[in-house]
Amino acid sequence: AQETTILGLESSCDDTAAAVIRRAADGTGTILSNVVLRQDALHAEFGGIVPEIAARAHAEKIDLAVERALAEAGLGLGDCDAIAVTAGPGLIGGVLAGVMCAKGLAAATGLPLIGVNHLAGHALTPRLTDGADFPYLMLLVSGGHCQFLRVDGPDAFGRLGGTIDDAPGEAFDKVARLLGLPQPGGPAVEAEAASGDPQAVRLPRPLLDRAGCDLSFSGLKTAVLRARDAAVGEHGGLPRQMRADLCASFQAAVRDVLAEKSRRALAAAGDVTAFAVAGGVAANRSLREALRAVAGEAALPFLAPPLALCTDNAAMIAWAGAEALLAGRRDDLTLAARPRWPL
Ligand code: KG4
Ligand code: ZN
Repeated sequence: AQETTILGLESSCDDTAAAVIRRAADGTGTILSNVVLRQDALHAEFGGIVPEIAARAHAEKIDLAVERALAEAGLGLGDCDAIAVTAGPGLIGGVLAGVMCAKGLAAATGLPLIGVNHLAGHALTPRLTDGADFPYLMLLVSGGHCQFLRVDGPDAFGRLGGTIDDAPGEAFDKVARLLGLPQPGGPAVEAEAASGDPQAVRLPRPLLDRAGCDLSFSGLKTAVLRARDAAVGEHGGLPRQMRADLCASFQAAVRDVLAEKSRRALAAAGDVTAFAVAGGVAANRSLREALRAVAGEAALPFLAPPLALCTDNAAMIAWAGAEALLAGRRDDLTLAARPRWPL
């Protein structure tokens, strides 16, 4: 294999991102630039992502993101070997904005175009950051996704289980809303939990009594709602300490369930080289430490990408594009944007 330089674009949720990565002949990756233009401020007053607003912002900002990514890498488009773009799954307006931009760039330059599955981008990140060898077990935990994947190759994923309702990030966001904390809820709940007692409120550990690696988080969110209402009824308002205790207890429940199901997933995965995590929820320190311990029990390396590569970014898309290109896969200008695209 020779050295390849890939421009990546990502716009499937609420971050407009572009990045340039280089994959050396020996398979190691280098991030030359990683630009993320966040939309949080645009959605803040609505308490969640508004798809139409997201789509417009992506369409307005994607060119700027690409320009910055190339400038920061000190390269021109002509120095790239291919253009990789998230083609799904995600909010279709945003995915379309990225795909149309990538098609324009590919048509203008004649460079190969590669449509990347957003989940594959997250799942292949440990290869970019740690040079992980196939097969490894990946726990993908984000605002929209929660699944255990055995990653056997750049385009070979075995799903061992996943959430049957909400994703954990979604649960963090909903709990934050219930408790009057800002969005995104994960970091807000984690900060609040720091001054709370994780044993103060007894919350369920959903699906632990069921065999296999499936998870559920919607009942947990409802249990927090009930505990909140009971506390409000008793005190005529939610005492500050109670809010912190609820956050700590909720975070501990999510952590316990994810840790135990990870143990089972590792047992089911067979021979793997590592246990890796990705997705925005992997930013949670208490969860990371619990998962690190689970990997340790199995005598496996624990691979957790740096935060900027856990949350949505285009470096992971560029990297997945590099792996696809190497495997001889490329798309043409008929590439479709897909709202749903299971791995
Ligand atoms: O991967 P990501 O950036 O976007 C996708 O969902 O694809 O993940 C965002 C999610 C949000 O739900 C956010 O609340 C959650 O990750 N999150 C966290 C933390 N930081 C972000 N959840 C728990 N603890 C955190 N520290
Ligand atoms: Zn994501």
